Amino acid sequence: MGILIKNGKILDNGELVQRDILIIDNVISKIAEQIEDQGYKEIDVKGKLVSAGFIDMHVHLREPGFEAKETIATGTAAAARGGYTAVACMPNTKPVTDRVEVVKYIKDKAAKEGVVRVLPIGSITLRELGDELTDMAAMKEAGIVGVSDDGVGVQSSRMMKEGMKRAAELGLPVIAHCEDDTLAKGGSVHEGIFAEKNGLKGIPNEAESIHVARDIMLAEATGVHYHVCHISAEQSVRHVRYAKQLGLKVTSEVCPHHLLLTDEDIPSLDSNYKMNPPLRSKKDREALIQGLKDGTIDIIVTDHAPHTEEEKKKGMALAPFGIVGLETAFPLLYTHLVLGGEFTLEEIIEKMTRKPAELFGLPWGRLEEGAEADLTIIDLETEREVNPQEFASKGKNTPFTGWKLKGWPVMTVVAGSVVWKRDEVLKTV
Ligand code: DOR
Ligand code: ZN
Ligand code: ZN
Repeated sequence: MGILIKNGKILDNGELVQRDILIIDNVISKIAEQIEDQGYKEIDVKGKLVSAGFIDMHVHLREPGFEAKETIATGTAAAARGGYTAVACMPNTKPVTDRVEVVKYIKDKAAKEGVVRVLPIGSITLRELGDELTDMAAMKEAGIVGVSDDGVGVQSSRMMKEGMKRAAELGLPVIAHCEDDTLAKGGSVHEGIFAEKNGLKGIPNEAESIHVARDIMLAEATGVHYHVCHISAEQSVRHVRYAKQLGLKVTSEVCPHHLLLTDEDIPSLDSNYKMNPPLRSKKDREALIQGLKDGTIDIIVTDHAPHTEEEKKKGMALAPFGIVGLETAFPLLYTHLVLGGEFTLEEIIEKMTRKPAELFGLPWGRLEEGAEADLTIIDLETEREVNPQEFASKGKNTPFTGWKLKGWPVMTVVAGSVVWKRDEVLKTV
């Protein structure tokens, strides 16, 4: 039996047009102005936006080892509520995802308990300690989509070069958390206005951009696909722009919080504004917007980093870095960047669907006939407040509590199956 999605609005060359979408055998079999119902299961979405499912290349699902923060079940449920149909999960788990057994564990758990696709990322170095390479070839066989020591920077240039060499041979991207410990150590917020006012040690822009510059040279030497994680500093954007001009395979990602907030927006010593890299200056924020506009920054990711309330209560200096992001990303971007006039709806959606798929060679991210039916359906009209108590994520650590947003996902479809829907909305559709 097929599923017929009636009266959706899809983006067609930048225009929103009304279409019916027929899904048969997990595949989008037809998109047309009118499709006759021939006994399909019909879902009338009454003019809501239908997009290819979002793909988030930077998520912390915390399993194995940190199940108090998040699990594959709760993290993927949060993803579905955010309109995501695929998430790549970072290897800073316990044990670290540095060998086949852990990759397999994640894949098995995801198959049993996950509601969206889970794409494991393996670590570059054993235990993310930065001194010995992992068996990337074996982990690739087991299904990793890239390598990263996310959570920490690879401090040794030699290790990074060796890691890149191996990744290049295997055709794996190196997804880099850029942070020079000698510059960042002990900092909890951006080295700037907020740090000064509150007597906190700051993390300077160079802590990130020095690694970006170094790694670009190593990427040139090794030919690897080098991808910069959660870019935050103006100087890093400049380096990536230059690398692209040189024709290197260098790409980058940015998070909604860095696009929308600066250190001046931190209201008090609230650790829900603490993440790594930190919220930076207005000038940095402007450079990120510009970089996203001109293609220097390729994709938008959340860096969804759930922590327990207990951990986050330790205050700005001591609480762990990280905020949740999966369940608020699109409404934040839609309300503030699309309705705010800085980007078109198409630009934002591209950077959450087609672009990440293209960059990492994934078969999803397109709403077209013949594609696997990974879809998200979004209500662009209804305004709702961000309420962490409604999150499916175990993590409630968000700086966006109480923000009034539009653009909330109402239904998520993975491989032709409805994996989540917002009941009160779908009763009326
Ligand atoms: O804010 C962050 N949280 N940045 C990181 O690099 C790691 C992450 C985490 O694992 O909590
Ligand atoms: Zn990171
Ligand atoms: Zn991360």
